Amino acid sequence: MTVLVSGGAGFIGGNFVLDWIAQSGERIVNVDKLTYAGNLDTLKSLRGDDRHVFAHGDIGDREFIESLLRTHQPRAIINFAAESHVDRSIHGPAAFIETNVVGTFNLLEAARAFWQELNDDEKSAFRFLHVSTDEVYGSLGATDAPFSENNRYEPNSPYSASKAASDHLVRAWHHTYGLPVLTTNCSNNYGPYHFPEKLIPLVILNALAGKPLPIYGDGQQIRDWLYVKDHCSAIRTVLANGRVGEVYNVGGWNEKPNLAVVHTICDTLDALKPRQGAGSYRDQITFVKDRPGHDRRYAIDARKIERDLGWKPVETFESGIEKTISWYLNNQDWVANVTSGAYRDWLSQQYEN
Ligand code: NAD
Ligand code: TYD
Repeated sequence: MTVLVSGGAGFIGGNFVLDWIAQSGERIVNVDKLTYAGNLDTLKSLRGDDRHVFAHGDIGDREFIESLLRTHQPRAIINFAAESHVDRSIHGPAAFIETNVVGTFNLLEAARAFWQELNDDEKSAFRFLHVSTDEVYGSLGATDAPFSENNRYEPNSPYSASKAASDHLVRAWHHTYGLPVLTTNCSNNYGPYHFPEKLIPLVILNALAGKPLPIYGDGQQIRDWLYVKDHCSAIRTVLANGRVGEVYNVGGWNEKPNLAVVHTICDTLDALKPRQGAGSYRDQITFVKDRPGHDRRYAIDARKIERDLGWKPVETFESGIEKTISWYLNNQDWVANVTSGAYRDWLSQQYEN
């Protein structure tokens, strides 16, 4: 048996591939375009392991995807591939439309053509699992109930709008063509192998480098934080037992304002790797210009996946952040590899100009 993932050299996809091989041993074909966010170093422990097949390519390349499906005959496709950073979507939305909307469309069409040729048993066992975000639901007020699967779609950034569009395509391919789809909408992930353009790894690495820790606006925006390994176990659960056509929200039950997240990182680093000289890493906190259209609050009501499928997260924010910080302290070679010239160009575009 084989499953095919897209975007498996990225943050969540990479963690998923590593956990999948460790837990199930089933072969996994991994299609990734290797954009700035894709990093084969994450998968280096799988070199020479024939349970992992890496295929360098674009989900938007229909012929390429169709030939992979014909060759490997997967029983499921899990779509992680995306442009994923809100700030980059503000600077350049075109790539988000190309990969998240047109790319997902192409993947769905290739999947549909493949699925239609399967025999009845294979057809009913096949799954297309689409990994999406809570950002499609828009922004919550301080006292609003967390997002449930029935919330209206109200995306506010080019990133979330492109993900919302992809979710609608996935839904339509089920209703119109019968493709057996599942969709997960999760909150902000954090953990090992996270590219340091996102808040948590950026703050860890800037702190260690003695650089400013940039807080957008007043730092009171709220996110729910989900440890990436918990997210991977949720996806495995939905793939195994989710009801076809259903949407599952996945969250960590960890709502925190950004400033509190940064304080926790500073305090943990103060304990694990005290600053050279005096003072706390908190001294490096710097308030900077806010993100345009910055969503104030995301929160996930993850009761459906717990009630229907028995999944809930294992990590608290405190246990997850300690694991994450320790991982960055112990994996400086991975960090050195991803913080290349292109990464430095992004930092100067976003934080200096
Ligand atoms: P990421 O940016 O770290 O990785 C994306 C991966 O997709 C990279 O390896 C990249 O090379 C690959 N890719 C990009 N365009 C491609 C294309 N056209 N064809 C093939 N591969 C391509 O993203 P992530 O944080 O791992 O997110 C994975 C998925 O989870 C995304 O769909 C994202 O929208 C969703 N998500 C992420 C978060 C989060 O907190 N990181 C939260 C909610 C949802
Ligand atoms: P991010 O990690 O980019 O995820 P998302 O925008 O998908 O939620 O940002 C998390 C929060 O942290 C978000 O409210 C924006 C904020 N933020 C900062 O305050 N400073 C930063 O340098 C970054 C990258 C994010």
